[in-house]
Amino acid sequence: MNRPPVDRIYLDHAATGWPKPTAVYETMDRFARDIGAAAGRGSYRSATAAGEIVLSCRRRLARLIGAANPRRVALFSNGTTALNAAIFGVVRPGDHVVTTAIEHNSVLRPLEWLRTTAGVTVDVVPCDREGQVDPQAVLDRVTPRTRLVAISHASNVTGAVQDVATIAAALRPTDSLLLCDAAQTLGYLPIDVTRDAIDLLAAPGHKGACGPLGTGLLAVSPKAESLLQPTTFGGTGSISESLRMPTELPTMLEPGNLNVTAIAGWDAALATLAAEDPSERANRSQQMADTLRQLLQPLNDVRVIGGRQLPIVSLTFAAAEVSLIASLLDDEYGIEVRSGLHCAALIHEQLGTAPEGTLRVSGGHGTTPDQLQRCATAIAELLTELAPG
Ligand SMILES: Cc1ncc(COP(=O)(O)O)c(C=O)c1O
Repeated sequence: MNRPPVDRIYLDHAATGWPKPTAVYETMDRFARDIGAAAGRGSYRSATAAGEIVLSCRRRLARLIGAANPRRVALFSNGTTALNAAIFGVVRPGDHVVTTAIEHNSVLRPLEWLRTTAGVTVDVVPCDREGQVDPQAVLDRVTPRTRLVAISHASNVTGAVQDVATIAAALRPTDSLLLCDAAQTLGYLPIDVTRDAIDLLAAPGHKGACGPLGTGLLAVSPKAESLLQPTTFGGTGSISESLRMPTELPTMLEPGNLNVTAIAGWDAALATLAAEDPSERANRSQQMADTLRQLLQPLNDVRVIGGRQLPIVSLTFAAAEVSLIASLLDDEYGIEVRSGLHCAALIHEQLGTAPEGTLRVSGGHGTTPDQLQRCATAIAELLTELAPG
């Protein structure tokens, strides 16, 4: 294996969080060695233990996001599969969908598929030069034909946090559903699907929620449940005599064996998160964002985009390509950041960063001010080295 440097500085938390809490590694190892059974299938002791772990994870998630009942939380293998289950599960041929330019391709590509194959019309609301979407501009596009409004809680390119609650409140009395992609906020900012009337909340478990790769969730409100259809079909360990999928949550969304090893790790991570005050976590994110901006803004010939509430900033350089700076940061300093479009097809036109994209620096739970300082210093040194003359 091509090993990363021992003293690496990992600043790509918007892609996935690392390292995880120690309990995650220990619990996964213990589960894989000592239990290792499938959940929801057999009734022997290790199968029951696996089932209890899955239920525990669901319960912790329901508490984290304010879902009224753990059965409303379905488990997935990442954010993308959860978003696909939501979009294909509620949008029907000929429907109208409103979305925004900040979305990740895990929202935009399913919608493009439906637009080109199922006569779905899709309105894309622009954002400003920081990735902020005006909630009124979203609501202005909603018509009686609108089945779904799909919006990220925060941009994965600039960290701009969106006013999802205002949109949700306006949609509450209508027939339209709100899908919130909380990929960049779950575990960092408080979310309450019941209070805020979020019909469908999708997120990976492996970013701010501290779970391992291979985890994700979709929370479904009663309003969304009445419309939701399964999009993946197979064995559920229940009503096996029937050729039809079960119709109840969460089973209707979870055919096939769950990744219980990863779910056990996620359950341990959620126990760690539950022991902390959520407002402290939000404050830490805010402080990190402030530190990042304070360190990066004074650099010459650098445009700093975002980083206002979450420690996710995008950078462009007057005199260097973002891909060159990213690879030099890794090669010469062991600093791991990402360059390019960040799987967000539409936002870069709005930010003025197309077609090259940006260098994204993103901190997470364990990021220290010293790591951010070393990253800013390294960027400044590289820009000086690369300056003409
Ligand atoms: C905003 C946003 N949505 C969705 C996803 C997809 O999540 P996953 O990679 O777990 O499928 C990501 C991942 O980077 C993201 O940033």
